[in-house]
Amino acid sequence: MLSPLNCRHLQIPNMQASPFQVIPKPIFPSPINIPPVHRRPPSQRALAITTSTANETHTPITMSTLEVVDASVADFWDYQFLFVSQRLETNEPVALQVVEGAVPTEFPSGTYYLAGPGIFRDDHGSTMHPLDGHGYLRAFTFDGVNGDKFSVKFMARYVNTEAKVEEHDPVTNTWRFRHRGLFSMLKRGEKVWNTKVMKNVANTSVLSWGGRLMCLWDGGEPYEIEPERLDTIGKVKLMDGWDSVVERRSDGGDVWDVAARLLKPILYGVFKMPVKRLLAHYKFDARRNRLILMSCNAEDIFLPRNNFTFYEFDSNFKVVGKKEFIIPDHLMIHDWAFTATSYILFANRVKLEFTGAMTSFCGITPTIAALSVNPSKETSPIYVLPRFPNEVNYNRDWRVPVEAPSQFWLLHVGNAYESLDENGNSEIQIQASVCSYEWFTLHKLLGYDWQSGKLDPSIMYLNGNKSKKMPHLVQVSINLDTGTDGICQRCDIEPLNQWIKSSDFPVINPAFSGSKNKYIYAAAFSGSRRALPNFPYDMVVKLNLSTKSVRTWSADSRRFIGEPTFIAKGSEEDEGYILVVEVYAVAVQRCYLVILDSKRIGAADTLVARLEVPKHLNFPLGFHGFWASNE
Ligand SMILES: [Fe+2]
Repeated sequence: MLSPLNCRHLQIPNMQASPFQVIPKPIFPSPINIPPVHRRPPSQRALAITTSTANETHTPITMSTLEVVDASVADFWDYQFLFVSQRLETNEPVALQVVEGAVPTEFPSGTYYLAGPGIFRDDHGSTMHPLDGHGYLRAFTFDGVNGDKFSVKFMARYVNTEAKVEEHDPVTNTWRFRHRGLFSMLKRGEKVWNTKVMKNVANTSVLSWGGRLMCLWDGGEPYEIEPERLDTIGKVKLMDGWDSVVERRSDGGDVWDVAARLLKPILYGVFKMPVKRLLAHYKFDARRNRLILMSCNAEDIFLPRNNFTFYEFDSNFKVVGKKEFIIPDHLMIHDWAFTATSYILFANRVKLEFTGAMTSFCGITPTIAALSVNPSKETSPIYVLPRFPNEVNYNRDWRVPVEAPSQFWLLHVGNAYESLDENGNSEIQIQASVCSYEWFTLHKLLGYDWQSGKLDPSIMYLNGNKSKKMPHLVQVSINLDTGTDGICQRCDIEPLNQWIKSSDFPVINPAFSGSKNKYIYAAAFSGSRRALPNFPYDMVVKLNLSTKSVRTWSADSRRFIGEPTFIAKGSEEDEGYILVVEVYAVAVQRCYLVILDSKRIGAADTLVARLEVPKHLNFPLGFHGFWASNE
């Protein structure tokens, strides 16, 4: 029989676990709430598991029923370890011990920042979806000033957002969640008519630009952080008109303008939403040395019309470009792309659920219940928006989207660039991670069950785990006829290098951002965890887009990784290092920072160094990171 008691070999990491322990207390952590383990009917027969990729097929592994059950239980509990709260913060930098390999003397000096949630359960019985968890900024500082010996120090601090001030008592270090966020529900008290849903927790990404460090979230202003001690300076108002609620249209507008005018006072006044939502994903245009940000309007969440504004900043944070686009569709955008002349939006389509909207308005369901994905189109609209209209010799109507021939949901963009083909047409290439609409379920993201407050990875998966439904890497190619009005001649989508294993977080050498790149890296899932069919990730994959080769580095057994980050070292595109955090190496109850030689991925000596985070400072899974070089 499948039971948590089958899993006594697992032990609790020392991460403020005591408030969260449940049965059996000496053995398991309770990161959110320990959910019941799914029971499967007993079987007497052995099960054969076969895994395959585009390039290789593994010998089937035969497992007894008991082994399968044990593996499933271990997988289930290992997943829980990704989201164990960490209440401790560092007051001083903590030196990390190198437990394998060595940090090379030529390693660049700088700091790797990693954003992500820190806490998932308060002291009053409420839990938070990982996407709603308060931002916990981690910093690994590499200091090579001592010449032959590298010092690597670690710090971690909560972003002191307005929400954290409301929900955390610094004297007693206790938490009481007072606002539910987009994906979560409060357990008791302040549940009904608690309408402040846009709880800015600054937990999604981190950015260093123009000498300023900021933590970003998809629903509001960034928070600026002091880069040495990680003290929170405060909210940053990067854009003009950020607080403006004045309706600028004078012609009355269409029906959606009227709806927006009616909705805005409710969103601002009742739901306490900011006028504009800055997205957490930003872009660097390496050739122009610019930072590009994008915002939406508050009402875009609920209306079939989106207001996108792109802002371009020079290295002094001066706005040097601003473009606004209104797209008549109901979209949910998390990441996007740019090229030398265009901004590119993949139309992840959603629709309003009336019942869900009413129940969420009353505080009975999470706000996300007001939306669902909208799979009504067989194709995927892609909007190619003019960044510099004067720099192209065609006058394309950007309101008409390019239609990709299949339906997919864009997760993250690795790179995009454009060039001219042999006919002089514009050829746009976008490398990204996508999944199917069936896989992407808004109210089940990361396996969080808002009704029980528990975390169960199995509820994420809809309709099986076929590779094309899972997150995977693709290249989208768009050919625009520059001889006419920029009409799309062709739009193809193909798996990158035929690599079909579940993958996300595509990254490149940032010096090639916006230009043609040869290499792309991503986090990928080996497929060896039976109860975790496509997430979390446990390997780094390197794709050579020129030779179509695939190279991988795998974490050890029962270790998960986050987003890889590329650090350039020399003049060649793949010359440098990959930094990646091993979160919850469950078998040894540790978090590690791993340095890989990006040129050597796939070889036996890929690993350069592994640095160990002190056990009492173990941290949960992070989202997006940033390497800030001292040079
Ligand atoms: Fe993201």
